[in-house]
Amino acid sequence: MNLDLFPEQPAPSTEAETQWLSESAVIFRAKASLEAPGILNEIQTLLEHSPLRQMRTPNGKLIAVSMSNCGALGWVSDARGYRYEAQDPLTQQPWPSLPAQIHKLAAQAVREAGFAPLRAEACLINRYTLGVGMGLHQDRDEHDFTAPIVSLSFGLPAIFLWGGLNRRDKTQTIILNHGDILVWGGADRLRYHGIRPLKQGTPPPITHPLINQARINCTLRQAR
Ligand code: SIN
Ligand code: FE2
Repeated sequence: MNLDLFPEQPAPSTEAETQWLSESAVIFRAKASLEAPGILNEIQTLLEHSPLRQMRTPNGKLIAVSMSNCGALGWVSDARGYRYEAQDPLTQQPWPSLPAQIHKLAAQAVREAGFAPLRAEACLINRYTLGVGMGLHQDRDEHDFTAPIVSLSFGLPAIFLWGGLNRRDKTQTIILNHGDILVWGGADRLRYHGIRPLKQGTPPPITHPLINQARINCTLRQAR
């Protein structure tokens, strides 16, 4: 017989908390979980116009992560280099507009992180399936490094590698979970970062085809 009438409850995984990585980098845990189903639906709809695709590096190497964009500008990579373009090279049409819910959450996160408002022109959509990661890199294709980067994560947890200002600097590992919003800027703006190959892990509390055994990351940048 179980006489423990009031067992200790585990903390809900959706509990919002703020985790500062430094003075200019912060994770708002589970901040986007409530909006996640709506945002994922909006992303699914916009991907019908500008589908996920694997791009190539300027050296011709296939990038493992499937990517698309929304917003006024989109990040693209091909033989001509890394750059921002107002038109999707696949459709020759403007990128789909940035979903209002993403914009609202990002603006709030930027404010709470203590940065000036962001002109979020570009939103890169990354989709990672099992075994897919992203190598260490800096985000330096933008014109102005005073504006922070905002990243929203959905789906399977990922190990984010948080390095230093030199490629060889030691990296910390940070788990990014479903609904987490990470903002980094200021002295951290040019830090190397990457994502370890995605592994099976505790699935998020919602199901959606885009995050079935997968992770979606939206990264907003002020590009010009
Ligand atoms: C990126 O650096 O563009 C993506 C990072 C992530 O997937 O969290
Ligand atoms: Fe990046």
